Amino acid sequence: MRLLTLLLVLIGAVGCDDAKDTQAATSAADTDTDTDADSDTDTDTDSDTDTDTTAVTWHGDVRPALESWCTRCHFDGGQGPGDFTDVDATIDLLPAMIAAMEGGRMPPPSADPDCRDYLGSAQLNPPDDAVDLLLAWQAAGTPVGVETAYTAPDAPETELADPDLVLTIQAPYVPSFTNPYEPGNEYRCFVLDPGHTEDFYITALAPQVDAAAIVHHTVLFTRSRADLSWVGADGYDCFDEAGAVTDMVHGWAPGGLPLEMPEGSGIRVGADEVLVLQMHYFASTESVTDQSGYAFRTAPMVDDELQMYPWGPYEFWIPAGDDDYSASFGLSIPVDITIYAVFPHMHRLGWAYHLWAETSFNDECLVQSDAYDFDNQLTYTLVEPYELGAGERLTMECTWNNSTSNPDLIYDPPIDVGWGERTDQEMCFSFILTSAIF
Ligand code: HEC
Repeated sequence: MRLLTLLLVLIGAVGCDDAKDTQAATSAADTDTDTDADSDTDTDTDSDTDTDTTAVTWHGDVRPALESWCTRCHFDGGQGPGDFTDVDATIDLLPAMIAAMEGGRMPPPSADPDCRDYLGSAQLNPPDDAVDLLLAWQAAGTPVGVETAYTAPDAPETELADPDLVLTIQAPYVPSFTNPYEPGNEYRCFVLDPGHTEDFYITALAPQVDAAAIVHHTVLFTRSRADLSWVGADGYDCFDEAGAVTDMVHGWAPGGLPLEMPEGSGIRVGADEVLVLQMHYFASTESVTDQSGYAFRTAPMVDDELQMYPWGPYEFWIPAGDDDYSASFGLSIPVDITIYAVFPHMHRLGWAYHLWAETSFNDECLVQSDAYDFDNQLTYTLVEPYELGAGERLTMECTWNNSTSNPDLIYDPPIDVGWGERTDQEMCFSFILTSAIF
């Protein structure tokens, strides 16, 4: 049943894409000369489009495009302002949307798709000319068109199918944003205790975000149950990530997809461990209640145990005032490994990262960006798992901006910053989902 639907959507999407290209091109050409005049005559052009089959319409073109690229954050109650699922709200915000896309601010940048192919890359990275569609729609007078012209965009599932374990924060939580070092931000950790008495394995997972408007990103890791027995339902302050580095399970930001491990493999949760969910909340004007959680598929046993292995330098010291300071860590891998997913991670000063493998033939890029965004940290699943041979070198490099030109700077004037788990210290990792061999 699901396969059939998928096929239909694929066929629809292919057909629709072709049409869209021609439509956008035609409309843009048609209207290049009279854009200004058009803006006064919105109502007239609406009726024109009933007969003009080449016009770009809301249902036929704009709605599915925004569903691909924008509405996972811009919906009623979402993290981004405005509800882009609503045609009237979209028309009101159209000039701002066009400006944000032309300025390269939206959608927020993610890992470079030219480096490698990741699940959902097409949704995370609109084509360079994506804004032309909005310009053509604006020029045509923002016609709504007919609902039957709508085809849902071809996109991976954003929710985990058939979870067998769902754990949520025990009680609704209202962030208070009282950390003086980080006005408007709160890092809160909650214990998600599956209540198990034997080891088990996570074979797939995805967060279930409740108050999307205030959740910037989440990190999931394991900790000893005994160490956290003092923690109550309201969690604990975790401006640092104590425990996360060695026991990382998952990192998520809006747009992040469910992580499915390959058949027969999974990440172990020990009998004496609990899961810890770190929430990064971002201030909103009113007090908002959150009770997010995670959905899992689990197995009592797997053939291959996987691990989110932290790969990157620990020894670096970023000088105050330096806007382009890099550090890296590279090592030859002792045995063959397969990399299934990557989760690049720095704190607020980081702006560029690059993880690559050196084979005997060439350098192979695994994940890269020169527009790292602390609020948009994702686990990227490789469409093709990458096999690294014994003796080949894997290197992670990060670049930071510790100067006043960085709007995310925590201390002004800047101070020297070294490795640390606190958000006002720095990290440089690509966590790699791989067989646990080290
Ligand atoms: C990953 C989440 C996310 C996605 C995807 C996203 N946005 Fe945003 N957007 C935000 C957030 C958060 C803000 C508010 C903070 C900011 O400005 O960075 C925002 C702000 C905006 C603003 C107002 C501020 C500005 O920069 O002009 C516009 C307009 C906008 N987004 C348009 C878009 C469009 C168009 C798309 C799709 C092509 C899109 N966004 C995709 C999260 C997102």
